[in-house]
Amino acid sequence: MSIQILGTGAYVPEHVVTNDDLSRMVETSDEWITQRVGVKERRISVNESASDMAEKAAFRALEAAGVSPESLDLIIAATVSADTICPSLAATVQQRIGAHCPAFDLNSACSGFMFALDTAAAFIARGGYQKVLVIGAERISRILDWTDRSTCVIFGDGAGAVVIEPGSQYLASKLFTQGTSSALSIPAGKGNSPFYEKEVGDYRVVMNGQETFKFAVRRLADDIKEMCDRIGITTEELTWVVPHQANIRIIDLCARRLGLPLEKFYMNIDRYGNTSSASVPISFDELVRSGKLKKGDLIAMCAFGGGLSSGACIIKW
Ligand code: ACO
Repeated sequence: MSIQILGTGAYVPEHVVTNDDLSRMVETSDEWITQRVGVKERRISVNESASDMAEKAAFRALEAAGVSPESLDLIIAATVSADTICPSLAATVQQRIGAHCPAFDLNSACSGFMFALDTAAAFIARGGYQKVLVIGAERISRILDWTDRSTCVIFGDGAGAVVIEPGSQYLASKLFTQGTSSALSIPAGKGNSPFYEKEVGDYRVVMNGQETFKFAVRRLADDIKEMCDRIGITTEELTWVVPHQANIRIIDLCARRLGLPLEKFYMNIDRYGNTSSASVPISFDELVRSGKLKKGDLIAMCAFGGGLSSGACIIKW
């Protein structure tokens, strides 16, 4: 049993932070960020939590799907920046929207939404679950080192969501993990135990940009190619690729490796930066609402992130 997407939704905070704004905080420039990353501005929350944003994206997805919160069978949220470890972000959303189903969080950093979508598809395949809400939501600004110019210029806040049910759109998926903390890590922060002797870093994103970059280009291209081979299509047959919006150069190199024109890659990195696990569902929601999708279009979604991890899928619209 496969799945189909009934509706999508997204939400980003109103407050815009431009590259010029950041150049007054750290030693950087609009020119460097635009050329090396592709971000012009990002949305940063000033008064909304990750669950506030997730709630808004969820309501929009439910409205687009024509599904009531009471009829949801499951909520899965991907996040690395939830307001609380407990209750989970998914549980908070469940309460806020008035759903009654099981709800839990899942973490695979920036590829978390792809892991959550595949997990939701597995629940549906198992049977007993009809309507599932899948969310990616981050207030990642909370865990950035705002004095580190190599990370703080990349990211932004936001949330995206989809509502799915049993169907036949989900043609292939690929999840990948290469456990390492050398490229990218977010330590959980110093604990309270008076007994524990090991030093733990602050709760913030620590990244080796170049190592992450190389992993990303290789995985995005390989994951898409492998899925295409598996379902017997060429990469040229993909109508759209919705990539994780991490770096325009990563997307460009991925397009070259696949031999695809950049026009096939949906992009909003210039407006939002990297919203971690919210990046793919926000982009997908924009693509759906743009009216550009036609019945039968083949869409690859793909993401990579801490773990290291990558996740991808191909759906037929
Ligand atoms: N402004 C100006 N200069 C900068 C900035 C900045 N914001 N950041 C770094 N530099 C400087 C460096 O200090 C270095 O200077 P030096 O040559 O004098 O030493 C120079 O620019 C080049 O630095 P690199 O690190 O080589 O720059 P690179 O081209 O690799 O770009 C970047 C850095 C943007 C981080 C890139 O490596 C990248 O995008 N990596 C992937 C990151 C990513 O996608 N992460 C997503 C996962 S996140 C998650 O899962 C939570």
